[in-house]
Amino acid sequence: MKRVKRILMTVLVLCAAAGAVFAGGSSQSTAGKGLIGVVMPTRSEERWIKDGNAVKEGLEKLGYTVDLQYSDDDIATQTRQIDDMITKGVKILVIASIDGSALSNQLANAAAAKIPVISYDRLLMQSPNVDYYVSFDNYKVGGQMGDILITGLKLDQAVAAKPVIVELFAGSPDDNNSVGFYQGAMDKLKPYFDRGVLKVPSGQIDRAVIGTLRWDAAEAQKRMENLLSAYYSGDVVLNGILSPYDPISLSCLEACKAVGYGSTPGKPLPLVGGQDCIVASVKSILAGEQYATVLKDTRSLGAATVTLVDTLMQGKTPTGLDTKSYHNGAKIVPSLLLDSVIVTKDNVQKDVIDTGYHTAAELGL
Ligand code: GAL
Repeated sequence: MKRVKRILMTVLVLCAAAGAVFAGGSSQSTAGKGLIGVVMPTRSEERWIKDGNAVKEGLEKLGYTVDLQYSDDDIATQTRQIDDMITKGVKILVIASIDGSALSNQLANAAAAKIPVISYDRLLMQSPNVDYYVSFDNYKVGGQMGDILITGLKLDQAVAAKPVIVELFAGSPDDNNSVGFYQGAMDKLKPYFDRGVLKVPSGQIDRAVIGTLRWDAAEAQKRMENLLSAYYSGDVVLNGILSPYDPISLSCLEACKAVGYGSTPGKPLPLVGGQDCIVASVKSILAGEQYATVLKDTRSLGAATVTLVDTLMQGKTPTGLDTKSYHNGAKIVPSLLLDSVIVTKDNVQKDVIDTGYHTAAELGL
């Protein structure tokens, strides 16, 4: 909770400077209350439920009414939901997109109706009508994914005569976050590839080739199965996997188990990280299977978003935002970027349970 409070305080300080910005916000003069539209990509992934709840509960506590919709990972559903919210007269839109480039018409309509748009976690692309971006530092998150492999596979001690063998997975190609995750990880891993101590037997390295549309764990599992049967016959043993998302990590481990990893001498489970700190992955970490994950505290992201909405609704100008890092193809979007934490067995207690992100009971402890 300390972290959440700290971030909340930072945002409050950042947002302290006053000044009218959006007609949409300032027209709401009655103590800033009104209807806020919140759209999340899917209910079938644990994190977005937490995100949706954090934003909704936070806004309701401040007296706002919230229309929270989940889009079932279907772009047509998401566009319809946003259209409806604009028609209903929401004062601000908070959008976590499915395909970051697919909402330009909706964003233009929002701008015409003077509704500020906050891009939530995933950057809305190719549109000038995006006012703010609230997320984590996605490049740093990617760096942490790289660090997980560097530390877990002891790459600093590896020698070219006996290279460490890995395969790489990336996130959804239509999600701009995938770019930061991939770039951050690959920049960390590059020196080890250059020294020849890290090898990818499939040769599949480009983000375009290793991407996982809609972050679909079943698709990743199929790709892992294909890689194992095509490139891992004989003596070749997979040592590690770069994974950008916990469900992908778990399904890759399943594919490996199915061909004897973890149950055959000389074939331990490959070391894999992940992202999102979902319950199943933390359980797997505690059981000694998945090695690590990157925790992006959805409560902090929710709290930062709530504070930003409230600031705009009061007609104030948020200040202290990052105005350099995130160009969406049409403009630089002022961003609030939070910090993430690597979680291994060693700090589950301190960073996951003690902070209340997951309870011991949820983790089966
Ligand atoms: C990304 C997000 C990740 C993960 C993924 C799949 O946009 O940054 O944390 O949740 O989507 O939902």
